[in-house]
Amino acid sequence: MRNLKNILVTGGAGFIGCNFIRLLLEQEPAFTGRIINLDALTYAGNIASLADLAGQFGGTRYCFEHGDICDRGFVDALFKKYGVDTVVHFAAESHVDRSIYGPETFIKTNVMGTFTLLDAARNAWKQGDGSIRDDVLFHHISTDEVYGSLGETGAFSETSPYDPRSPYSAGKASSDHLVMAYHHTYGLPITLSNCSNNYGPYQFPEKLIPLMILNIVEGKPLPVYGDGRNIRDWVYVEDHNRGVWTILHTGVTGEKYNIGGENEWENIRLLHTLIDLVSKKAGLDPEKARGTITFVKDRPGHDRRYAIDCSKIKRELGWTRKVGFEEGLAKTVDWYLANTSWVDGIRSGEYQRWVEQNYGERR
Ligand code: NAD
Ligand code: DAU
Repeated sequence: MRNLKNILVTGGAGFIGCNFIRLLLEQEPAFTGRIINLDALTYAGNIASLADLAGQFGGTRYCFEHGDICDRGFVDALFKKYGVDTVVHFAAESHVDRSIYGPETFIKTNVMGTFTLLDAARNAWKQGDGSIRDDVLFHHISTDEVYGSLGETGAFSETSPYDPRSPYSAGKASSDHLVMAYHHTYGLPITLSNCSNNYGPYQFPEKLIPLMILNIVEGKPLPVYGDGRNIRDWVYVEDHNRGVWTILHTGVTGEKYNIGGENEWENIRLLHTLIDLVSKKAGLDPEKARGTITFVKDRPGHDRRYAIDCSKIKRELGWTRKVGFEEGLAKTVDWYLANTSWVDGIRSGEYQRWVEQNYGERR
């Protein structure tokens, strides 16, 4: 029986991590434990996303620890201080474009950081006879990008061969292999999930959906890479996180699970849908926004199509999506229209100055 009492969430100030913490503390009465949020607050981490929860649960069921997952001494100390029995590892450099122009941080955090956490967990959970406790769990959050790029048909399953194409996905693939290696070699209890493109509130506005929503509102150019015909499979962030929570409870140790939206969209078609939706909600002229669509140079090595076969988690663990794309997009657009101060804080540099004053220089 897994403990799930003292959960170390890495990257909990990022997009998916902060939504995961919200889900557990606000919507999961079955969760009665404590969350320790370890985050380095890089450019993508925003602790303001959890300010209300820190006020409500801080000190008892929610603690924030500022630090780097690559810092072994710091990570060891956290395991001890909080009696960590579960790790949910979201922390990563996550933006493909940045990995192309500056791969080193991606390898440090995504590969070395994951290695550091795995080894610290092995050490903390080792028993007197050398075996590892069986009431603990290391859950690793990964991506469909490790499988590479699909042609016009087919979908990635858990047994699809790995074929990463960007420094980001190559680092994530390496981390997946390390997680499996720690399970097979040392008996570390692990689970792993590979998810498709997430969307929803609190996503850093460099990713496609929030970038386009904000640019439509502001009348800025809408940059479409290449011919705009690349396909992504979109899943609402809360559905992804419910999948993770389901795996923590009932996932089989040593297994990996794909999570996806079964919801494929060409980028250009998605952009037209967003233009209609945002224009309607914000009282703008959609034709004017369409006129700002700008086809730009393609991303090098741009994966053509992703699609996830998530029948395993549905069949074996009973997970299902709750949020349809129309509903999820409407919620997301509403959130960005209503939370301009969250976006302004990032864009104006005000949030960055606050982090530097309180936590020292940011990476
Ligand atoms: P994000 O970039 O929004 O957040 C990443 C978080 O990790 C930030 O808070 C950042 O400060 C923190 N972080 C980065 N380096 C760190 C370090 N060295 N030490 C401690 N904290 C550090 O990313 P996201 O979109 O929320 O993605 C979270 C995870 O989910 C990643 O592992 C990513 O690969 C995976 N994933 C993302 C998607 C997606 O569509 N966004 C889909 C599938 C899987
Ligand atoms: O598939 C899961 C992955 O989804 C995660 O592992 C990554 O962390 C996450 O960033 C995301 O990667 P993508 O590269 O698919 O997401 P992004 O939002 O950067 O781009 C989505 C698609 O839109 C992609 O085909 C590139 C295109 N694009 C993106 C941007 C930012 C544009 O055409 N214009 C843009 O300005």
